[in-house]
Amino acid sequence: MNAILITLNIIVLSCLGALALKWPPALFAFLVVGPLSLISIWGVSKGGLSARQVFITTAAIAITGVVAASYIWPAAYYGFLIVGPIVLLGLADMWQTKRAIRRNFPVIGHVRYFLEEIRPEIQQYFIESNTDGKPFPREERAVVYQRAKGVRDTLPFGTQHDVYAEGYEWINHSMAPVKPEEMNPRIQIGAETCKKPYSASILNISAMSFGALSGNAIESLNIGAREGGFAHNTGEGSISPHHLQGGDLIWQIGTGYFGCRTEAGQFDPERFGEKAAQDAVKMIEIKISQGAKPGHGGILPAAKITPEIAQIRGVPLGEDVVSPPAHTAFSTPIGLLEFVVRLRELSGGKPVGFKLCVGKRREFLAVCKAMVETGMHPDYIAVDGGEGGTGAAPIEFSNSLGCPLVEGLTFVHNALVGAGLRDKIKLIASGKVASGFGLVRRIALGADACYAARSMMMSIGCIQARKCNSNDCPVGVATQNPTLTAGLVVSEKSQRVTRYHAETINAAMELIGAAGLTCPSDLRPWHIVRRVSALETRHFSEIINYLEPGALLGPELPKNFERAWNSATSSSFQHLGDHDAQA
Ligand SMILES: Cc1cc2nc3c(=O)[nH]c(=O)nc-3n(C[C@H](O)[C@H](O)[C@H](O)COP(=O)(O)O)c2cc1C
Repeated sequence: MNAILITLNIIVLSCLGALALKWPPALFAFLVVGPLSLISIWGVSKGGLSARQVFITTAAIAITGVVAASYIWPAAYYGFLIVGPIVLLGLADMWQTKRAIRRNFPVIGHVRYFLEEIRPEIQQYFIESNTDGKPFPREERAVVYQRAKGVRDTLPFGTQHDVYAEGYEWINHSMAPVKPEEMNPRIQIGAETCKKPYSASILNISAMSFGALSGNAIESLNIGAREGGFAHNTGEGSISPHHLQGGDLIWQIGTGYFGCRTEAGQFDPERFGEKAAQDAVKMIEIKISQGAKPGHGGILPAAKITPEIAQIRGVPLGEDVVSPPAHTAFSTPIGLLEFVVRLRELSGGKPVGFKLCVGKRREFLAVCKAMVETGMHPDYIAVDGGEGGTGAAPIEFSNSLGCPLVEGLTFVHNALVGAGLRDKIKLIASGKVASGFGLVRRIALGADACYAARSMMMSIGCIQARKCNSNDCPVGVATQNPTLTAGLVVSEKSQRVTRYHAETINAAMELIGAAGLTCPSDLRPWHIVRRVSALETRHFSEIINYLEPGALLGPELPKNFERAWNSATSSSFQHLGDHDAQA
């Protein structure tokens, strides 16, 4: 600060001196500038001026300098075009009361906010390595972009990963690899229970609503899904016209029952039936929770409810709309299953599933008990990991709530196997699936198929700017700002979605073939190995205790399930007995 002041003094005094040599009356300017300079130099010599004092003195010297100079050379008045706005900005900074940095460091304090603003970009472009970016490292983002664009996606010179680092994972290959061409990357959902079962790809677009994403983003995803023959989950914001481009839809229903709600916000069977009957809707998903913010309801503020959103979601204009944390259509495990069956009937026999991030194990086991007792069950369960993404969530919910995918998925798989239900219910896993290995790994751990949200966003141009909660997404993906969404050209980006999906499936099939397997469903936990210390590795069936079919139904319960299973009851999400701790 003080250095700036001294420099300014030197510049102004030397300019005036030079002018005075040509035009002596300029010496009179020293009558004003001279004392100001002396005061400021005295202040600096006394141990420094505060930034506010520096600003005021600098502004006074600069204004006087411009005025004095313009007596000699009238065009110098133009100097006010630069000095004027800077002085006004500094005065505004000192006047405002909200930001201490701006008050204490007028003008210069803005540099701090500017640097804060561009910090993610600096981090991403100049600092992060290929393997350490978060949530998705550069290497993973790059492979999504390359596959989406259909350009070279090979890696030169070998891996950059430390294969001796704890946590490093790989798939064991075979000495008798199989050609991947013949593999079928699809699964049947609802084959036994539904009039209209669905043949799903093993990779589909995870739930993201119109509102969280732009209309152009939703259209690109849907057309991409149509061309690639995979499914597009609507997210809980209901089915918008942007979703109706011909792609298969999974209609997600959250606690706000958007698109199928009464005026009071309850589930409306008639409206549900009408929408679910559309041919585009292939499956229905009840959203219980998502990994990034499990147990968090939401408020859709009146200001964000445009006439289009009001019409799509079936909510009033001009009022805040509350999504409660829990469903009102059911309140017990049996109630959930009855709701599943009701939706299946109302939709004309389409597969119905539910999505959750695992929390209390006992509650999920209560649902398993309800299935065993009643014979009712969903056609699929989607397990979301705590590492999952969101448009916006409180930091505590994103960082500290919800079971990560490995534990959540293997627990749900185990519970269904143990309850003798696994062959009736398909499992879809989501949580940072971006590559072929990502897909293979989740299937090996227990999933039948995967959902991807953020990598699909990347395929349409998301650069991980992490501005989904601000309406300022620079690439027009997670914003409703028309000047930004204009940058996202549907005809171009939709092709990228199709290519990204196809290339990722291809990569997964090649890995499966290299492991000597003939289809994704042959994958088992022991195919994936993890380094657990510098000298030890374990495959996943050594790390996780996989249950035998029906293990929860016999008299001898597996130790790690005993307490939770015994305290679970099909009639309530509450615990049976008096201990909740381990459940
Ligand atoms: C912008 C955005 C919006 C989302 N909206 C929903 C939603 O409406 N319903 C839901 O169940 N999950 C929602 N999610 C979570 C994703 O569907 C998915 O479960 C999660 O991001 C994990 O997948 P990923 O790691 O592939 O992103 C959203 C995620 C993002 C990034």
